[in-house]
Amino acid sequence: MSDIFDVAVIGAGPGGYVAAIRCAQLGLNTVCIDDWKNPKGKPCLGGTCLNVGCIPSKALLDSSENYFQLQHKFSAHGIHCENAGIDVSTMIARKEKIVTSFTAGIASLFKKNKIKSMHGKGTLQKQSNSAKEWTVAVEDAGSTQTIQAKYVIIATGSVPRPFPLSMIDNDKILDNVGALSLTEIPKRLGVIGAGVIGLEMGSVWRRLGSEVTILEAMPEFMMAADDQIAKEAKNIFNKELGLQIHTGVAIESVKVTKNKITLRYADADKQKQTLEVDKLIVAIGRIPNTAGLGADENGLALDEKGFIAVDEYCRTNLTNIYALGDVVRGPMLAHKASEEGMAVAETIAHLEKNQTIEQCEPVDFNVIPWVIYTSPEIAWVGKNEKQLKAADIAYKVGQFPFMANGRARSIGDSFGFIKVLADEKTDRVLGIHMIGPHVSELISEAVIAMKFSASSEDIASTIHAHPTLSEALHEAALGADNRALHI
Ligand code: FAD
Ligand code: NAI
Repeated sequence: MSDIFDVAVIGAGPGGYVAAIRCAQLGLNTVCIDDWKNPKGKPCLGGTCLNVGCIPSKALLDSSENYFQLQHKFSAHGIHCENAGIDVSTMIARKEKIVTSFTAGIASLFKKNKIKSMHGKGTLQKQSNSAKEWTVAVEDAGSTQTIQAKYVIIATGSVPRPFPLSMIDNDKILDNVGALSLTEIPKRLGVIGAGVIGLEMGSVWRRLGSEVTILEAMPEFMMAADDQIAKEAKNIFNKELGLQIHTGVAIESVKVTKNKITLRYADADKQKQTLEVDKLIVAIGRIPNTAGLGADENGLALDEKGFIAVDEYCRTNLTNIYALGDVVRGPMLAHKASEEGMAVAETIAHLEKNQTIEQCEPVDFNVIPWVIYTSPEIAWVGKNEKQLKAADIAYKVGQFPFMANGRARSIGDSFGFIKVLADEKTDRVLGIHMIGPHVSELISEAVIAMKFSASSEDIASTIHAHPTLSEALHEAALGADNRALHI
């Protein structure tokens, strides 16, 4: 006889573990099944984000930025440090310590919330028509247990998109796992894909001294970002950091030999080029992880791109089965996954109290912030100019450069700007775009403004402390009404 739960969550990444905690807080008897193992072969909660994604990448971004500042920026403050060096193994060990403390933290949160944690691969079992509960088989190291649950939440995340020209071995050809664990600084590093991982990981190793060349298939750089931000970013990455970024390339072959990797590609002008590197990071996107879930056997509908098909409430086509996070449509972001996790838990709790689905609140995709943790950082929320033009929406623009912001000048980091886009007629904020120091933190004010349907006047009439970086947002909002003061 298998254990019976109210909710079984498959996957303990930021989508699944948050869903499990919220379900438990709402009084639902919850089990969370996860199959992640750390490099030592130990079960480890937290999914991609905590183990090989958000947290370790930010740890390395900070270590490498400190080293870069020491090498290139501190002398302007009169601080000199001869013979400064970087010990990569200490940097990697620090990263691993941070990861371990957070993944262990989730195990304690599960304990505190009385969530049963099971290690193994969860597979939906075929259900008879009369069954009231779903059965999930949990397989680990050859032994299988089953559990039953009224509701199942699938949060199985994503995996790197396979690269047809070469296998990932995480020795020479690296995905995010290998890129986060290099033990030496490669002299020459190639990166395929100028997306978020390519830019963040390329920045880490460039700051530490690698010659980094990024090859991007799309003709434009950072197509998802506002054009002006993308242009400014490419310029700074190239001139200040020394990242070589080539867009519009078509990679034709990748040859790995003992001492080097040779890439042959056609550049944007269709000219044949050769690039030799010591390590190659492949960061060409991620795909939903539905392998071994029992999707086909149960008729779980996938969309045309292989994501589990869900509605706005994250309901799949199967009764009482929900899916969320990277395995469903929408941006592949940890905070989007967690927000869906909370929303699904609330939905299930509401339905259990006989409320209708219309009384539940789906996640608002219009106010999901994006942050790229390069230097300068890039962040945005809402629509960009390209999207507003395509939708034929009349808008006004307020923009303010960090060069004219006292705090940015004081900290010696004054690249970039903030741009506020507001509806021409109603003044409602439609999008806010930032490139500059600590904009990963500044974007939250923009998100709150949009969440509460603020106008640019609302931001402009709010007192911002002086001297702070947030005054750049204040000035950009004033600028939307042509009344910026310090420019
Ligand atoms: P995941 O975190 O992928 O977790 C899924 C879990 O389910 C895993 O533990 C997996 O092993 C487990 N699983 C899968 N199938 C089964 C099964 N059948 N049975 C049991 N367990 C299963 N996002 C941000 O917002 N900010 C960032 O700074 C950021 N940085 C990133 C950096 C990198 C290098 C990468 C790769 C990603 C980054 N992301 C970032 C994206 C973020 O990691 C993902 O959006 C997020 O992890 C998705 O959460 P999830 O819960 O949907 O899935
Ligand atoms: P991505 O989708 O951001 O970028 C992939 C890039 O590779 C694209 O620009 C694409 O045009 C390019 N590409 C695809 N095939 C190619 C080829 N054959 N040759 C050359 N270029 C090619 O995907 P990425 O960087 O792998 O990251 C995956 C996801 O992880 C991101 O979309 C994001 O959702 C998440 N992430 C978020 C972070 C954050 O929030 N700061 C940090 C890192 C990852």
